[in-house]
Amino acid sequence: MHVDDRLQHIAFIMDGNGRWAKMRGEKREYGHREGSETFKRVISYCGDIGIKVVTVYAFSTENWKRPKTEVNSIMKLLNTYLSNCEKELMEKGVRFRMIGDKSALSPALIKKIERIEKATEDNPLLLNFALNYGGRAEIVAAVNKLITEGKTITEQDISNALYTFDCPEPDLIVRTGGDLRISNFLIWQAAYSELYFTDTLWPDMSEADIDAAVHEFYSRERRYGGVIKVSPKN
Ligand code: FPP
Repeated sequence: MHVDDRLQHIAFIMDGNGRWAKMRGEKREYGHREGSETFKRVISYCGDIGIKVVTVYAFSTENWKRPKTEVNSIMKLLNTYLSNCEKELMEKGVRFRMIGDKSALSPALIKKIERIEKATEDNPLLLNFALNYGGRAEIVAAVNKLITEGKTITEQDISNALYTFDCPEPDLIVRTGGDLRISNFLIWQAAYSELYFTDTLWPDMSEADIDAAVHEFYSRERRYGGVIKVSPKN
């Protein structure tokens, strides 16, 4: 399996960790731990098949409402990942970038994130890691930034002011876990994304499941509001 330029950017809503753990009689934290392993496997596979940009929804602005023990366990997993990811990101040529509001994160975590961002900044592939991310919050922040410039705002201005200003919009958004919604993820950038929903719980997401999503993507016809191109008969 290898993709072409039609599929440059895949975004993942990694849902189902909690249910995966419950089904095994374990705590939700156990599911997040397995989910973080799946995340590493998935981003590595996406690189192998030629995807240039991967965006993952690791923690939303709404996820703070979860029990403190669960929030802490996710933060701990992130911390462990960030402490150990640099070698592999460098080997695979992946640039790490957090998208989201850094201000609510601990100073130690921010420092770690910024160190990885700096160390990997020249790598050709891109991992957008959505952490304390909300699509509406992202748009509000972008608009506030533009207001200070005092001009009439265009769509391009907003795109250019988002966290993802320098990468193509997602061609494909994959949501695991069976729910059919976008949950405040990349709401501006998703305007013309193909959406793919699967009942597979995130920790069970395999290379074959990604292949299935990619095949489905290639079977879709993207018209961007236009009409189907039919070659004229002579
Ligand atoms: C959704 O599953 C998952 C999250 C809110 C957290 C995603 C976090 C990870 C995959 C691990 C984080 C660490 C790294 C290194 C990426 P859910 O808890 O909502 O599952 P449920 O719908 O079954 O309850």
